[in-house]
Amino acid sequence: MTTNILDGKALAEQLRTSFKERVSTLTALGQRPGLVVILVGEDAASQVYVRNKVNACEAAGMLSEKVVYPVDVDPAVVLARIAQLNADCRIHGILVQLPLPRHFDEAAILAAIAAEKDVDGFHAENVGALAQGQPRFIPCTPYGVMKMLEHAGIDPSGKEAVIVGRSNIVGKPMALLLLAKGATVTICHSKTRDLGFHTRRADILVAAVGKARMIGGDMIKPGAVVIDVGINRLPDGKLCGDVDFASCAQTAALITPVPGGVGPMTIAMLLANTIEAAERLAQRSPAPRRKVA
Ligand code: GUN
Repeated sequence: MTTNILDGKALAEQLRTSFKERVSTLTALGQRPGLVVILVGEDAASQVYVRNKVNACEAAGMLSEKVVYPVDVDPAVVLARIAQLNADCRIHGILVQLPLPRHFDEAAILAAIAAEKDVDGFHAENVGALAQGQPRFIPCTPYGVMKMLEHAGIDPSGKEAVIVGRSNIVGKPMALLLLAKGATVTICHSKTRDLGFHTRRADILVAAVGKARMIGGDMIKPGAVVIDVGINRLPDGKLCGDVDFASCAQTAALITPVPGGVGPMTIAMLLANTIEAAERLAQRSPAPRRKVA
């Protein structure tokens, strides 16, 4: 069987090019899309993700700002900054990079972000709307995966979809999105007995655990679509996914690489959500008055 690679980098670039026109239109209306990314601490991976997000916004012509706090910052300081940003009409999206240090109440931080600026889709209101099948903001990584499937012409309806990982960021929203498209969804996690039994049944397999190469070729059904959300750093400094690409690529019909698969799509969908937030505001606000010469 020939293996096809699902190229997230190329699709993300295509999407980002298409965003430029929407950004120009909004900018002309006085609603240049603006995103603020808040980072607490010095986690190396989070620093890279945040830098990539901010750079992607700037490349698309959007306003973007990075706010960095030391690891021992008082959560009240971050909450006060979020309150300020909620009231700032130049800012359409607010993202707090996760994970947060242990002394933070993550749920309280996410709840403090105005739901209409929650471009991560992590606020309880947005999670609830997604669960009810009326999404407002879709979490960026699973949103990117759905776009990749759509672009590749994969219809989840009637398929067995197996997700490995039950996080709020990927596993749970991924399950809701695939369910909404008619897949029969199984979520596996650290307490699942006989993981391979489940993964070998999957027409669509999504790995989102954060364990290097834990899904081997013997755990894949021939002809499966394999989506690797993991980004793990190996001792030699190279990146790899949760899927053992070399062995799984032999068996899968379609497979995402790491890097260059889901990662770039996460960023593209963050831009999409921020632009969407600005468009919603532009629709609610009157157009700026033109100067009369
Ligand atoms: N940490 C890992 N992925 C994400 C994400 O999509 N959003 C935020 N805010 N933090 C993350």
